[in-house]
Amino acid sequence: MDLSSSTLCPQNLTKPYFISFHKQPHIRSHLQFQTPPKTLTLDPKFTITGGCKLSGHVPISGSKNSALSILAATLCCSGTSKLHGVPNLSDTRTMASILRSLGAEIEACNGEMWVNADGVGSVEPCPEDIGKIRGGFFVIGPLLARFGEAVVALPGGCDIGTRPVDLYIRGLRALGAIVELGDGKVRAQAANGRGLVGGRFKLDHPSVGATETLMMAACMADGVTVLSNVAKEPEVIDLARFLTGSGACVEGAGSDTLYIKGKNQLHGSECVVPPDRIEAGTFMLAAAITRSSISMSPVIPSHVACLIDKLLAAGCKITCAHDTLEVSAVPDDVGHNLQGFDVRTCPFPGFPTDLQPQTMVLLTTCDGSSIVEETVFENRMGHVRELQKLGARIRVCGSTAVICGKEKGSALLSSHVVAKDLRGGVSLVLAGLAAEGVTEISGIAHIDRGYENLDAKLRLLGADIKRLIPLASPL
Ligand code: EPU
Repeated sequence: MDLSSSTLCPQNLTKPYFISFHKQPHIRSHLQFQTPPKTLTLDPKFTITGGCKLSGHVPISGSKNSALSILAATLCCSGTSKLHGVPNLSDTRTMASILRSLGAEIEACNGEMWVNADGVGSVEPCPEDIGKIRGGFFVIGPLLARFGEAVVALPGGCDIGTRPVDLYIRGLRALGAIVELGDGKVRAQAANGRGLVGGRFKLDHPSVGATETLMMAACMADGVTVLSNVAKEPEVIDLARFLTGSGACVEGAGSDTLYIKGKNQLHGSECVVPPDRIEAGTFMLAAAITRSSISMSPVIPSHVACLIDKLLAAGCKITCAHDTLEVSAVPDDVGHNLQGFDVRTCPFPGFPTDLQPQTMVLLTTCDGSSIVEETVFENRMGHVRELQKLGARIRVCGSTAVICGKEKGSALLSSHVVAKDLRGGVSLVLAGLAAEGVTEISGIAHIDRGYENLDAKLRLLGADIKRLIPLASPL
């Protein structure tokens, strides 16, 4: 099969496909944040020939989840906000589309984004877009704070649990809003007809999205708000930093209590979206799974401290210098096979749920049995069935998985598997890198939601991964 050709009809595929290679090494995308062409809505696939060692350096993109909440926060600001390092992902494009549906003006180029929300004239964002991503729902906070009113459809996002919005609703009520849920929409209005008022609210669970939404709402509420048992994730700190730079008064970000003094008006500001800790963690695990050595930057080591501890315990070598992190699992370096370990996902600073599926793949290649317990989302084991198709020996009971490793190297074999959510989907890519033979992964639109140029970055490191894009049917 001639893989150098730009058009190709693999014999084992029924529809025509072409292989797309992003230009390298210019990984940073030059695409505008616009609705992708129709062909991309057809189901593209990855094919991965496993067994290649990875080497070299990979650039880490800006954090998806920080970018989503900061983009929502631009709705609080008058004038223009300028964001650097916004990853070009289908999720960030959807968020841009949500802001545009409200009347915001957005320009984007090479990871930079200018948002001006002065012309916002609607309090009801496009429900179809809100239904695509969880982060879209966060706009309810800024809209309610600035206009005293919001009508927002229930959010979408990965199918990893019921993902209710009760904490958002109860928190907004504590700030003086009347909130009703009906017809798949949340309707919220400031009770006194003027605006939100500061209040106290304790979250039952340190929800990241509810913390961020309430923080944005409280920044423009009248008086002081105290939010307790809040999320301590780095993305919450990133959002607080943007809001503070825009004139808000937020204290306590990164601790379990936030103190917010409301301001009448916030102004646009400039900020850099920090590196994506989950993307960095995914590449760290890719190095370990393929028994390779790679470096990556920029990385904030404290954001991936839990994973560093686990990889060191497994036997990997890790070095950090400034914002560059190097992971080696090369047998010559580590001298033995990696040792399995147990994982229990928890809110930050615990082990991130967003690295659970990828870590499970590593554990299938390590010595001994390991236990993975998912405590954040009640239904985040959907990837296990697909990993089993690749020969992984994993048993699941409720939210706990027992993984049987193997004595030496990879136990994984190739097959055709389907990505059903973002992190589960990327775990299949990591498994494909280590599996014997050619693994075909469909459903990769889920992966494109959260990884910027994943296949191009992996090729840069020496992986044999191709993106097959179905050709559009003639009209
Ligand atoms: N929860 C409630 N009620 C609520 C809100 C949350 O019961 O009102 C529960 C959820 O059902 C879940 C738990 O709280 O069991 C944690 O959910 P959380 O609200 O913290 O998650 P999120 O805000 O919906 C964000 C990220 C997720 C990440 C989680 C946990 C965004 C857009 N999403 O989701 O990212 O897994 O925090 O860290 O910020 C991903 O990137 O793949 C992803 C899923």
